[in-house]
Amino acid sequence: MEKNRETFGSRFAVIMAMAGSAIGLGNIWRFPYMAGEYGGAAFIIVYIVASLVLAMPIFFAESVIGRRSGSGTFGAMEKLAPGTRWKWLGFLTVLSPIIILSYYSVVGGWSVEYLFKSFDFAGMTEGDVTGFFGKFISSVQMPILAHTAFLLLVAGVVLGGVRKGIEQFTKITMPILFVLIVIIAVYGLSLPGSGKGVEYLVRPDFSKLTPSTVTAAMGQAFFSLSLGVGTILTYASYMKKDENILASGLGTAFFDLFFAILAGFAVMPAVFAAGIAPGAGPGIVFETLPFIFNKMGTASPLLSTGISFLFFFTILAAALTSAISMMEVGVAYLTEEKGMRRRTAVLLITLFAWVVGILCSLSFGPLSGVRILGNGIFDFLDKLCSNWLLPLGGLLFTIFVGWKMKPSDVYDEFTNGGTLKANRAVFKTVLLLIRFVAPAGIIAVFVSLLV
Ligand code: ALA
Repeated sequence: MEKNRETFGSRFAVIMAMAGSAIGLGNIWRFPYMAGEYGGAAFIIVYIVASLVLAMPIFFAESVIGRRSGSGTFGAMEKLAPGTRWKWLGFLTVLSPIIILSYYSVVGGWSVEYLFKSFDFAGMTEGDVTGFFGKFISSVQMPILAHTAFLLLVAGVVLGGVRKGIEQFTKITMPILFVLIVIIAVYGLSLPGSGKGVEYLVRPDFSKLTPSTVTAAMGQAFFSLSLGVGTILTYASYMKKDENILASGLGTAFFDLFFAILAGFAVMPAVFAAGIAPGAGPGIVFETLPFIFNKMGTASPLLSTGISFLFFFTILAAALTSAISMMEVGVAYLTEEKGMRRRTAVLLITLFAWVVGILCSLSFGPLSGVRILGNGIFDFLDKLCSNWLLPLGGLLFTIFVGWKMKPSDVYDEFTNGGTLKANRAVFKTVLLLIRFVAPAGIIAVFVSLLV
């Protein structure tokens, strides 16, 4: 155990760190392409409902477990349910964020590459710009180099520890990020032809709704809020005892949802303006935006380069704060449960994520023939985590808080030992969501997937 466990310094720091964990590639890279693949507005509506009804209860459940135990995800299970099988939930939620970190770093690496590429887009031919993404991700060295650079950045911040590293970093980058994405969204909306993109985002076509849309929307909600992987639990364990769990959770979810929708408005109108199919898949952000920056470059190369640089800086910063939280879960486990030094823990996790990430990166190139259950390595790991491991982790967290913990202990956490005048009706509603609604919803989605 670390003797003097650090805590976040203020409510602002807690919300910024949690929002930093939540807001990331999930909002800017994954949300627009999932919305594009699963039918636009109808997907977005299911995603919002899933965020509120399924994801929020898990958010609160993880916060309660983390703050009550003051431990990372594995230690929390050992403290609150010693000697029971709940330790497997601890294992699961240490493992899944490290798997996500591995492929997440590959996409993080793409943003590193595009940050530098920003200086070229304006001067390239249109064909070179649109063809660049495919050529880049199917090559060997550059994506691996970029993935390595991204992972080293993550490791560098996590090495700094909670206060000096994570808190300082997220407190600075999150507000900057927010301003940048608003500027980019406003710019995207001003492009000719962008109106169809707006329509796509706001006019639902419910005939497109299928069980797989619902699964994808639920997976997106969990991925985006970093749920079911112990990151929110671990950050909540760094919360002070007088912090308001409900307010922090709602603040974070509000920022995350708002950010995803903003990112949708920054990307989708531009997709339509560029004449790209909205269902073009994982590369959509990386294919669409350079096309736009290239077009802009004919009017003003400087403006084009500036906006491109800002955009990919935004993606990179958002990706870093999320990846940091995923690495921190494993670091908390290795330092607190295995007595490792922070440095050694960071090194081990970085190595693991580096090797698995290389396989993921190569799955777009030389290893594209390797199929697991019909998917390439990258897609397989993303589907495994988003559609199965995250919902499973989330389901078990809600069952733990709803059925294993004493309601009085849960109430104690929501009211900070009775010092907050929490509304009983609010508490009862939240407990109802944690005990019944969220587990039933997740199980229903699992069943529909299996059937
Ligand atoms: N929650 C993180 C994101 O949205 C993983 O990128």
